[in-house]
Amino acid sequence: MKLPVSLLCAVASVAALSFSAHAQPAKPDLVKGAALYSQMCVACHAADGNSTTAENPKLAQQHPEYLIKQLQEFKSGKRDSAVMKGFAAALSDDDMRNISFWLAGQKGSNGFAQNKDTVRLGERIYRGGISDRQIAACAGCHSPNGAGIPAQYPRLSGQHAGYTEAQLKAFRSGARNNHAQMTGVAAKMNDREIKAVSDFIAGLR
Ligand code: HEC
Ligand code: HEC
Repeated sequence: MKLPVSLLCAVASVAALSFSAHAQPAKPDLVKGAALYSQMCVACHAADGNSTTAENPKLAQQHPEYLIKQLQEFKSGKRDSAVMKGFAAALSDDDMRNISFWLAGQKGSNGFAQNKDTVRLGERIYRGGISDRQIAACAGCHSPNGAGIPAQYPRLSGQHAGYTEAQLKAFRSGARNNHAQMTGVAAKMNDREIKAVSDFIAGLR
């Protein structure tokens, strides 16, 4: 049997369409993401995602895959946070995607290192790690300018030092137990080193 070319093309394009529909999830809805964010999240994380309070992390320009992972884990309890659990529990998978992709498109704000006595120590740890305790360089995963690597390593630069410090201590104590590699990194650091590297990261850009 001989089919007309136009029919063959139509069959091929339907096949291609249904293939791409299965291969990728629907595009995130940024308008819905922004609306939900402004209802539920803005009070703590600020209108543009750049919270001005050290307890509440900046979220703007963070990689969406990382944000989605955190929201899923707050919801499941794998990352324990009394504050975030309730908000995350109210979100569907689509809500998480929509908000996270909207946040990823907001511009992150810069910060400043505050402590000139420890900024060199912080920079040394960030760029070179601490070799005699086999602490890997932060830059090796989070990239030299702290922008991270999409889908793999979160952005750190410009984050509030108080938040970064609290997370490193939480990884160290096991209170944050959602990433074995980071637990391994923080486990061997002392308070002074954690403070120094957190302060350095706040000013990194
Ligand atoms: C009452 C204040 C408050 C509200 C409202 C709030 N958050 Fe949070 N959020 C926090 C705090 C505090 C943390 C840090 C939790 C911790 O220490 O682990 C946090 C952490 C996060 C993180 C992890 C960030 C990171 O770098 O790992 C994400 C993602 C997040 N919030 C998203 C949201 C979203 C989305 C909403 C709205 C649906 C929201 N938050 C509403 C206070 C809040
Ligand atoms: C082997 C790769 C690797 C190295 C080295 C590494 N990190 Fe990480 N880091 C990660 C990954 C992956 C995550 C995301 C964890 C998750 O999914 O919850 C992370 C998360 C973090 C977070 C939490 C960010 C947030 O917004 O809550 C901080 C803070 C952090 N790292 C700081 C550091 C510092 C400081 C160093 C160097 C002393 C370092 N990391 C070294 C891979 C690494």
